[in-house]
Amino acid sequence: MADRNQTAYAQPGLVRYYAQLQRLQPAEQGIWAKLQDRRPTMAMLDLGIGGGRTTQHFWPQVRQYVGIDYSADMIAACRSRFGADGPTLAVMDARDLSAFADDSFDLIWFSYNGLDYVSHADRLQILREVHRVGKPGAYFVFSSHNLQAMARLFDYRQHLSLNPITTYVDVAMWGLLRWFNRGLSIADLAQADHRILRDESHNFGLETYYIRPAAQLEQLAFGFCDVEVYPWTQTQPVAASDDPALAEALWLYYGCTLAKGHTLSESVLKE
Ligand SMILES: C[S@@+](CC[C@H](N)C(=O)[O-])C[C@H]1O[C@@H](n2cnc3c(N)ncnc32)[C@H](O)[C@@H]1O
Repeated sequence: MADRNQTAYAQPGLVRYYAQLQRLQPAEQGIWAKLQDRRPTMAMLDLGIGGGRTTQHFWPQVRQYVGIDYSADMIAACRSRFGADGPTLAVMDARDLSAFADDSFDLIWFSYNGLDYVSHADRLQILREVHRVGKPGAYFVFSSHNLQAMARLFDYRQHLSLNPITTYVDVAMWGLLRWFNRGLSIADLAQADHRILRDESHNFGLETYYIRPAAQLEQLAFGFCDVEVYPWTQTQPVAASDDPALAEALWLYYGCTLAKGHTLSESVLKE
């Protein structure tokens, strides 16, 4: 799965798309603002930087910045965007951060669902690597697609409205969604913790991991604490697990603190 997505992320159209993105998403803005006082002292690792959207905001404001992506074409686009005096960048796979020593970073960020383009086993490997290279007490931020919201979108009734044109377009997209995910049913999504599916981004061209928020919290429990969950559209985290935004936002940001001295639990290691 990671290899197929890696090939997709080398396509010139995708590289051009990510290289022109500028703004932080609302949840990223909220989290970044919260870290304001700590930023000047932080060594930061930015994973899956794509065309450098986050780099332009983060790099000038932290003590030390390293940005990586497993797509050489994305890193080349960043190098031409930021020039010779730009930040430290490397072609590197987040599944293997062996270039970095244990306890190296104060802040690790994996934006815009980059974690969702590897298999379940590889995702757990990335979380282990993040845990290893982060210092005790480091802050880890990432976003991930929300299976709770996608399960609703599988139901055609969610796409009906009083506007016939909107309904026509939405039902057509729903038909494509169901076609590209023929092996998956509403009942399956309703009970699953996580699933790989193809969504409309980049014309259904990527295999994408979706996870329920409760399952994501469980996945982090081996070594991360004080997890806050932000719908991507909000600058503030949700206050309760029954917040309706958790069922609607197609992706969620998770901000958490790295706790060391824990061992991986059985539930995290199971495939
Ligand atoms: C959806 S794009 C987001 C790009 C950028 N972070 C942004 O927010 O604009 C995901 C990026 O993650 C990268 N990526 C996915 N899996 C990766 C991995 N295992 N190691 C490093 N980069 C990865 C892809 O190459 C792609 O550039």
